[in-house]
Amino acid sequence: MARITASVYTSHVPAIGVAMDTGKTQEPYWQPLFQGYEPSRQWLRENTPDVVFLVYNDHATQFSLDLVPTFAIGCAAEFKVADEGWGPRPVPDVQGHPELAAHISQSVIQQDFDLTLCNRMVVDHGLTVPLSLMCGNPPASDYRWPFKVIPFHVNVVQYPVPSGQRCFELGQALRRAIESFDEDLNVQIWGTGGMSHQLQGARAGLINKPWDNAFLDDLIAQPAQLARKPHIEYVREAGSEGIELVMWLIARGAMADVAGGAAPTLRHRFYHVPASNTAVGHLILENAA
Ligand code: DHB
Ligand code: FE
Repeated sequence: MARITASVYTSHVPAIGVAMDTGKTQEPYWQPLFQGYEPSRQWLRENTPDVVFLVYNDHATQFSLDLVPTFAIGCAAEFKVADEGWGPRPVPDVQGHPELAAHISQSVIQQDFDLTLCNRMVVDHGLTVPLSLMCGNPPASDYRWPFKVIPFHVNVVQYPVPSGQRCFELGQALRRAIESFDEDLNVQIWGTGGMSHQLQGARAGLINKPWDNAFLDDLIAQPAQLARKPHIEYVREAGSEGIELVMWLIARGAMADVAGGAAPTLRHRFYHVPASNTAVGHLILENAA
């Protein structure tokens, strides 16, 4: 059967992708950030999954305000890289897993979560920056990502957005879906976006280090309690774009302890300010073997 072996949490700041694509990672501004991901790249080389179920948000790249799905799953065999603003990044397109995506869709919709099925979609920095941070950009000699990816988009752009509680419960449904797939696959689930940041308005540039670090503590040790945090607290404390953090609760809800299993092992924790307008947070949690 397929198994969820670990969850990874990371911010997706687009300027991180630009720093990597333009050879700036060793500059003083960026070097401490990339150093914080060195242990993660080593861990991922030693724990390369078959598939990553990657929870992210599209930023008006695939879904404009014409059409805003709350939860959308990528069912295609391939997803082209695209982006707003700076244009598509020079990184490989993403290979999907249509059979597993179809199984997850069937199972999760039967568990009463309505998903939008995407048989063709493009992916933006919300998905490619976490891949680059965790894997490094693939070399020309082997120009592909080291695993398949099922993109899973969450609306955190236009209100109403889903609650932390709904996201946490969706994670639990995803675990049941993935672990009932009849093929031996090593699957990781990644929750991306965040941490505190606000890109517009009077409070643009807001960063809240104590709140972010308390969020990391609670995500590790008491996610069910964290899931009850209302939207207004994210916006007040972590800024308008801090709401991206509800996506981390989807990945956390899919871990074994939430269904009565053993507590996960913390493999890595990292927090860094600044990266563009955003605080960068990162965790790796492993399920017991
Ligand atoms: C920034 C952060 C984001 O989450 C985003 O989607 C775009 C820009 C930033 O900090 O610059
Ligand atoms: Fe964002």
